[in-house]
Amino acid sequence: MPMRITLSTLQKMAQEGNKITQLTCYDASFAALLEAAGVETLLIGDSLGNVLQGHESTLPVTLRDIVYHTECVARGAKRAFIIGDMPFGTFQISPQETFRNAAEIMAAGAHMVKLEGGRPMLETVRFLTERGIPVCGHLGLTPQSVHQLGGFKVQGRQEGEAQRMIEEARMLEDAGAGMIVLEAIPAALAKQITAAVRGPTIGIGAGVECHGQVLVLHDMLDVYPGKKAKFVKNYVRVAGTIQGAIELYVKEVKAKTFPGPEHSF
Ligand code: KIV
Repeated sequence: MPMRITLSTLQKMAQEGNKITQLTCYDASFAALLEAAGVETLLIGDSLGNVLQGHESTLPVTLRDIVYHTECVARGAKRAFIIGDMPFGTFQISPQETFRNAAEIMAAGAHMVKLEGGRPMLETVRFLTERGIPVCGHLGLTPQSVHQLGGFKVQGRQEGEAQRMIEEARMLEDAGAGMIVLEAIPAALAKQITAAVRGPTIGIGAGVECHGQVLVLHDMLDVYPGKKAKFVKNYVRVAGTIQGAIELYVKEVKAKTFPGPEHSF
């Protein structure tokens, strides 16, 4: 039986400068394939609303959807650290109700839940982590707020906004967050945040200096027909096969050659 990767493993990797690889994953077959290729963490992202369900945003994804796909992934992954995303509307409520929803995702096989947002989420992050549920924060472009943000835009370009994000990352960590996803922010800002926290920080469109990287599986395998963000690399075009694509992603993240400047802001 392979040794399970834990949050401590990932935090040690971050401290030692070993890059962490993460991909989204929604089923047992891909879970087995990804971890065999060396991917350390699997995220059951609410991006499944776009890439599996065909929605234009992540907003329609339900708790049941995430629970179902977490169960599938957990059956296929024997070693990887599994993170379940909290869907829109399931955590912007009382900490008590959020705990009940997060507990369902954990019972389905997740080792951590992820929730979007900074300052307004601090009380909830503290409530969950003090009661045994590890939490991953998510700052920058938070897709569940797409209508509030006015589209899928790079965040943190203004000085004041950038400073606020650095503070929010610190506060999330103080509240107990064990990992923070940074999405679509300038690489220089992600570097500052990564230096300001223990981590790990996991970047998507946040430059090469984060402790680790994540991409949406269907984007990097080029099976999602929708528009791709600048930060997506089409690994199948380069590697030729699905397995080769995943192995190349792992190799490039570890070697710090992905993301390159062409995938960064
Ligand atoms: O839902 C998702 O896939 C995500 C990643 C983009 C980080 O949140």
